[in-house]
Amino acid sequence: VTVWLVGAGPGDPGLITVRALELIRRCDVLVYDRLVAPELVDEAPADALRIGREPLRQERINELLVEYGLRGLDVVRLKGGDPFVFGRGGEEALALADAGVPFEVVPGVSSVSAVPAAAGIPVTHRGLASLATFASGHDPDAIEYELLARTGGTVVFFMALGSLPTIAERLIAHGRDPDTPAAVISAGTTPEQQTVTAPLAGLAAAAAGLASPALVVVGDVVGVAAQLAPRAVAVAAAD
Ligand SMILES: C[S@@+](CC[C@H](N)C(=O)[O-])C[C@H]1O[C@@H](n2cnc3c(N)ncnc32)[C@H](O)[C@@H]1O
Repeated sequence: VTVWLVGAGPGDPGLITVRALELIRRCDVLVYDRLVAPELVDEAPADALRIGREPLRQERINELLVEYGLRGLDVVRLKGGDPFVFGRGGEEALALADAGVPFEVVPGVSSVSAVPAAAGIPVTHRGLASLATFASGHDPDAIEYELLARTGGTVVFFMALGSLPTIAERLIAHGRDPDTPAAVISAGTTPEQQTVTAPLAGLAAAAAGLASPALVVVGDVVGVAAQLAPRAVAVAAAD
């Protein structure tokens, strides 16, 4: 193997896997994306080539991975969360496979469940959701609102902050209860984490001040956070 497609975890550098950290510490080239904690970039050897300070087009990233991989260098492609969850890791894997470059995927802790968990939301809490869907909010016109509203359960939207008013409005228009508990969690698992909860109909207004990256969670499981948060505070106070 010369190229590793590695998940960096959801934000807190402590949530990286043991395997990922081992690979970062001995790589020749580290290609990282903007959601990766700087502490993890610092773990690479001092003489490793670091690529990631400037945003690059996906095609250019694929080219670089292939180019360094063909040279036989140890390349770590470090991506936020899990590389195969809305991370374009699949595209990079296909580019490497097409070029005949040996590669391996090292899964990471995805924000899909870790960020809600850090906000006290168990995404599949028994009795409240036996189903969770993850959806991209990047293009609000491409979302299947009718299907999501009919399916119910928990819906986790990635990249949905900018389109939140549209997404919430259309979900309700297609039949999701406007009183459904919902949350936006910004910078989850980091010291900057902020959570806003509100009924779906009021979520966009309530979350107007939050910054990206943010995850949107819709479903009754969001209500569990209110029961867990006081306990979290009690544990912190006891420390
Ligand atoms: C391009 S996707 C990458 C997802 C990543 N591969 C994963 O498994 O978590 C980026 C989106 O993930 C979500 N996200 C990632 N990290 C987050 C965090 N720490 N807090 C809140 N949302 C996060 C946001 O919706 C963000 O816009």
